[in-house]
Amino acid sequence: MAASGSRAGRTIKIAPSILAADFARLGEQVQAIAAAGADWVHVDAMDGQFVPNLTFGPLIAAAVKRSTPLPIDLHAMIVEPERQIRAFADAGASLLTIHAEASAHLHRLVHDIKAAGMRAGVAINPATPLDAVKWIAADLDLLLVMSINPGWGGQKFLPLALPKLREARRLLDAAGCSAELEVDGGVDHETAGACVAAGATVLVAGTAVFAAPEGIPAAVQRLRDAIAAAAPQPL
Ligand code: DX5
Ligand code: ZN
Repeated sequence: MAASGSRAGRTIKIAPSILAADFARLGEQVQAIAAAGADWVHVDAMDGQFVPNLTFGPLIAAAVKRSTPLPIDLHAMIVEPERQIRAFADAGASLLTIHAEASAHLHRLVHDIKAAGMRAGVAINPATPLDAVKWIAADLDLLLVMSINPGWGGQKFLPLALPKLREARRLLDAAGCSAELEVDGGVDHETAGACVAAGATVLVAGTAVFAAPEGIPAAVQRLRDAIAAAAPQPL
């Protein structure tokens, strides 16, 4: 029986997204999530083309890296992601996730990301079927199921993500793949439990952590409690 807060013995990870952080105090905010027990720092790179919004790239990722020992989980919402692989590796990203919709050559790019020394993830938008990654599932270190249309934080969780997470879980298990299954968008203490029950192993949360009125430590604890309540309980 899996322990509380884990799936098949694996601890469920919390990856706060700095998109909702106060950028005037970024180093301090990143240190606060580490002190609160977050597992990864989720960094949302947006280029104004793949998504309408424009955020940041390798320079900010490198600044985050200098502020914390936590792994950098880089979510690249950019066109032509191949042009930035080396820069994100040099910035210190542990994991680079690119979008299935952004490349016709996902298999090659996944291996290029690994060759650059990072773990490789692929993200799929709400309208994208899991078939887009079926044939490379075994090559992945992470599969990201978007539970919003990417571009902004603070959006409402799309319920379609739950059956999609269950299908993704079956796909990864059938491929014998131990990749992380990440969910991103509208994740808070009310939606986290259903995501874990559906098979997610990494929860991204921006607004629910950085904009929580109760403060960052209480917000992370509230997510942990939701995770523990959703996971199978020991007998
Ligand atoms: C949106 C980003 C998300 C975003 C999530 O495109 O990929 O990581 O920060 O924000 P919340 O948790 O506020 O929905
Ligand atoms: Zn993201």
